[in-house]
Amino acid sequence: MPVPEALRGRLKAPVIAAPMFLTSGPDLVVETCNAGLLGTFPALNQRSTEGFRDWLQEIQGRLEPHAAPFGVNLIVHRSNPRLEADLAVCVAEKVPLVITSLGAVPELVAAVHGYGGLVFHDVVNARHARKAAEAGVDGIIAVAAGAGGHAGTLSPFALVSEIRSFFAGTIVLSGAMNTGRDVAAARMMGADFAYLGTRFLATEEAQVSEAQKRMVAESAAADIVYTPKVSGVPASFLRQSLAAAGIDPEGGAAPHLDMASEAKVWRDVWSAGQGVGGISDIPKAAELCRRLIADYREAVSGAAEEARGEGWL
Ligand SMILES: Cc1cc2nc3c(=O)[nH]c(=O)nc-3n(C[C@H](O)[C@H](O)[C@H](O)COP(=O)(O)O)c2cc1C
Repeated sequence: MPVPEALRGRLKAPVIAAPMFLTSGPDLVVETCNAGLLGTFPALNQRSTEGFRDWLQEIQGRLEPHAAPFGVNLIVHRSNPRLEADLAVCVAEKVPLVITSLGAVPELVAAVHGYGGLVFHDVVNARHARKAAEAGVDGIIAVAAGAGGHAGTLSPFALVSEIRSFFAGTIVLSGAMNTGRDVAAARMMGADFAYLGTRFLATEEAQVSEAQKRMVAESAAADIVYTPKVSGVPASFLRQSLAAAGIDPEGGAAPHLDMASEAKVWRDVWSAGQGVGGISDIPKAAELCRRLIADYREAVSGAAEEARGEGWL
């Protein structure tokens, strides 16, 4: 069942606004969900578990009755001391979708399933996807080459088809998609949902500086540098922000991943995916969602006609 029952009929297009460190918060989530797409944020964007609970309650209070469900990203890594407490809050508040990164743990999946929630886990290769499948997740987020954040290196075609060969659950494709047509393409290649980060970073509600949003809107794919030098795990960054922070992506040793120091580094060095080349404006999130939904519907319903016009059908 590629689209889980809990999400069926709840979204206006198969789009998830991906969680982004220091970037997504209640405004982005609420505007996205109220516009009909699934909004998310990382729990660590709030400084404490209490603050995280406050955000969840604020979001739940601001969602309209027809709103799409929302999700929360938990980092499952030994350097995240808040994992247990944040998970307990997700359970208490019945967060509809929990997105795990780095570790896929059966106990966490059981805790979320216990209240009827869903768990999606993000991976950059088939080996990690198999582990996530064994842990019992409902969905696997295939983070392909060119994505923002901790991106992968594999072609989206290669990654989606390989995961589909052994996983019957939901597949979400991540990496460099900006438009409803891109979302339709992701579905055509076998994914069930598209996961858009960088496109949502360049919206009014994203909690980053205007300078960072402008840099996203003005950059090209060639400006994205993929390097482990910032956080120990390879990730995509805007070249100009690396230079401004004095980080040489070629020289020196990479640090060890440590969530305690991530906030300091990611505030100065700005992450974005290769999709920057297709982004030139900074709309309100609701306007972006409206566009994505309309473009997606047009792309899907016009596809057969387009193919017929060109003699393919
Ligand atoms: C600024 C930024 C911060 C991110 N932070 C996180 C994060 O905290 N947790 C996570 O799972 N993914 C994070 N990501 C990755 C996104 O969730 C998503 O996989 C990616 O942005 C999709 O590719 P795209 O940016 O090309 O659309 C981040 C991405 C960006 C651009």
